[in-house]
Amino acid sequence: MSTILITGGAGFVGSELGKILVKSDHKVKLLDNLEYGYRDNFEDNDELAKSFILADVRDADFSKYLKDVDIIFHFAGIAALPECETNPVKALEVNTTSVANVLHACRNSKVGKFIFASTSAVYENNDPETPFRENMQVFPNLIYATSKYNAEQICKSFAQNYDMDIVICRFFNVFGPHQDFRRKYPPFTSYLVREILAGRKPTIFNTADVKRDYIYVDDLLEYLTRIMNSPKHYCAEIFNLGSGYGYSATEIVKSLFDIMETPLDYNTGDPNTFWDKYDNLFNAAYNLNRKRICKEVYKHCIADTKKTVNEFNFSPQINLIEGLKSIIKFQRQ
Ligand SMILES: NC(=O)c1ccc[n+]([C@@H]2O[C@H](COP(=O)([O-])OP(=O)(O)OC[C@H]3O[C@@H](n4cnc5c(N)ncnc54)[C@H](O)[C@@H]3O)[C@@H](O)[C@H]2O)c1
Repeated sequence: MSTILITGGAGFVGSELGKILVKSDHKVKLLDNLEYGYRDNFEDNDELAKSFILADVRDADFSKYLKDVDIIFHFAGIAALPECETNPVKALEVNTTSVANVLHACRNSKVGKFIFASTSAVYENNDPETPFRENMQVFPNLIYATSKYNAEQICKSFAQNYDMDIVICRFFNVFGPHQDFRRKYPPFTSYLVREILAGRKPTIFNTADVKRDYIYVDDLLEYLTRIMNSPKHYCAEIFNLGSGYGYSATEIVKSLFDIMETPLDYNTGDPNTFWDKYDNLFNAAYNLNRKRICKEVYKHCIADTKKTVNEFNFSPQINLIEGLKSIIKFQRQ
């Protein structure tokens, strides 16, 4: 039995991982500052509720949270791209500097493995070379992707210079129940289900045949557990965690209306205006480049999963339709 610390543990992926690790008899501690996460993601589980740590990954004395910890999943982060552009210093502190902070604290602890949640967004300027392989040179330049890429470099530094066992997981679009549909601008699938169930027309900004990789949360959790249980020592090795399948925005919307047996009905938005709701990106002396936003809205993003599938002997099992059905069921409840 291991003691596992999950930072960002009140968020979507962290809380779901916590629940399955507790079931497999591990001692699990979730740590979160609750800025984007929710207590009700884990409070129905007594063990997780009792051991929850309300704390910030930027805490300069982070080692106090590492007593007896064997494994860390570092998931705390600011994931929304426009929020990172709006507050780049905070994004870098949380997404990059906190990785150095936690790894530095690990040097005086018995933590044996550090598993980091990076993102497929690091491939944002590799389009149209999709599917993306882990060994491709990447050229991120938006703040979110840059902050995660910098964090990957920090992981490499600690793995190479201190012989720490570190795994970098590049998550593609993870979807499933418990993904935050309450925030003002939720992730795509949760947003669509919320709007359709509320009887509102969702707005789609990208009706072109541009495909993105979606991995269902249970498949992602299976990978994370296999990574955790691997006896190998990894030197900041990178693994794509995706399904290898791409779906366009319109395919997803059509599937949802089909599943709900409701006539297809949505608005089409101008991709140029996608981030206009974030006023301060467009009212300064230097404004966010419109061409860059359009490129972001139209980007292809599919994982080459060969390396991950071979290494962990597992392929994702749950397809888009099954995954969407469980989100609908969850949001209906
Ligand atoms: N879900 C996806 O599709 C996806 C894709 C690529 C990468 N990722 C990365 O995976 C990780 C988990 O994603 P998620 O979907 O669960 O996101 P989430 O927003 O649901 O969870 C992130 C959690 O981190 C917490 N957090 C933020 N700043 C913190 C701080 N300073 N100290 C402590 N906790 C803090 C938030 O409160 C939140 O609970 C994130 O780092 C994200 O960037 C997610």
